[in-house]
Amino acid sequence: MTTSSPGAVARLRDDVVARGLVEGLPAAFAAGLTRFGRPQRAELDALTGAATDLAARLATGAVGEEDLPLLTRVLYTARQADLLARHGVPSPAYDVLGSFRENLERPLGPRLAERPTAGDRRWPLLGRTVGFPLGISSCVLNGSAAWVRHNVANGWNVLTYKTVRGRAHPPNEAPNWTIAPGLTASLPPGGGADVVSDPWDWVAPGSPAVSSVNSFGVPSPEPEEWMADLERALAAVGDEQLLLVSVMGEGDDLAADFARTALMAQEAGATVVELNLSCPNTLDRSAAGVKPPLCLDADATVAVVEAVRRQLDDRTGLVAKLSWLDADRLAALVPRLAPLVDGIAGINTVQSRVRRSDGTPTFPGRELAGLSGIAVRESALDFTRRLVALRAEGGVRFDVLAMGGVTDPASFEALFTAGADAVQSAAGAFADPLLARRCTDALGETLPRSGEAP
Ligand SMILES: Cc1cc2nc3c(=O)[nH]c(=O)nc-3n(C[C@H](O)[C@H](O)[C@H](O)COP(=O)(O)O)c2cc1C
Repeated sequence: MTTSSPGAVARLRDDVVARGLVEGLPAAFAAGLTRFGRPQRAELDALTGAATDLAARLATGAVGEEDLPLLTRVLYTARQADLLARHGVPSPAYDVLGSFRENLERPLGPRLAERPTAGDRRWPLLGRTVGFPLGISSCVLNGSAAWVRHNVANGWNVLTYKTVRGRAHPPNEAPNWTIAPGLTASLPPGGGADVVSDPWDWVAPGSPAVSSVNSFGVPSPEPEEWMADLERALAAVGDEQLLLVSVMGEGDDLAADFARTALMAQEAGATVVELNLSCPNTLDRSAAGVKPPLCLDADATVAVVEAVRRQLDDRTGLVAKLSWLDADRLAALVPRLAPLVDGIAGINTVQSRVRRSDGTPTFPGRELAGLSGIAVRESALDFTRRLVALRAEGGVRFDVLAMGGVTDPASFEALFTAGADAVQSAAGAFADPLLARRCTDALGETLPRSGEAP
């Protein structure tokens, strides 16, 4: 668990009192809990009762460090996470009660005064070098220049700007991102699950046993907006970091639209473009429901990657992001992709059926959503090992960007040791915004460079 500095509760208490927030706190907490539905009566009563009791003790000053977990949950759910950040207390790194738009402008969570580094050690990646090779994968935590700046300050070095499109696309209806508290261990490789997840479910910040599900639908600002923001994001990244840009095409001429969008990213200054060939929650407008990821169709995938490679400047790096694929599918696809790309990334979230504890869909109107975090850890390891083996067999060099279930230093190290050149996290970075510091502190001095003996 992430520990906060001693005295955090006392300082938070003084701040909450000084701002006149104590009285309204139980109601604001209850409003957050019920924002997207109602917990069972007993659960709701227990939670609101605990918040009312906490507020009474905040008023009199009868609080201690043991109250930090509840105080964190109450303030976050009452939409006061900025207060927590001000006092260096971690919360989940995204406001799941806010809209996609609200979140774009407002990175959540503490920002470290000193950026964690592995001294002057560097690791090779995609023709450049980076500091400690851990970052945040393409997701809403890298949705804008403000987030990229925030993440760099907290020691995340390999960042992928959230998937953008060639035209504006609205997010799916909220909620978009929830916790799956029943999945605190990995499922077997490739294993989907019937996931139970309620919008009010909670993860204690710093917990390595986090699983989450999301259904954003790959929203995108219009190109004019994201290209300008991307330029600012690229300018915020220093020598030790690499910012890739994830793009996705759509429509009848998919390959052409992917290529057009990749070119926009290059025009905005991207030096590496990542193709999102693996989104598990794109709505299918023609047949009700959600489409399977594109990379399940090898011919369509290769056609897209070829079209993009033809369109981009030779100096622009190209990465293909895949979902977990079974042995036959991956072995058929990788030799076709290898000559076209500089890197292969994976895995994306695992498409899963997601319901609330009362049996209704967690995300109204969408039965399927993307599962990630510790539940997909074995899938990510299995995929990475097979990808690295295929690279060795094929004799064509590409870098491997591995992700899936990285929530602590050991899970980072497992993917790196399997042969990844860099590792990324999404659900782990959500649950623990200071995860990069933990990994850098634990492994920064000893982690081998890829290809070196440990
Ligand atoms: C909330 C959320 C949004 C995501 N959005 C994207 C996206 O826009 N593009 C993409 O390629 N992957 C997206 N992903 C997938 C992640 O980049 C990552 O591949 C996956 O979550 C597995 O990593 P994890 O177990 O660390 O979460 C998203 C994941 C999450 C949790």
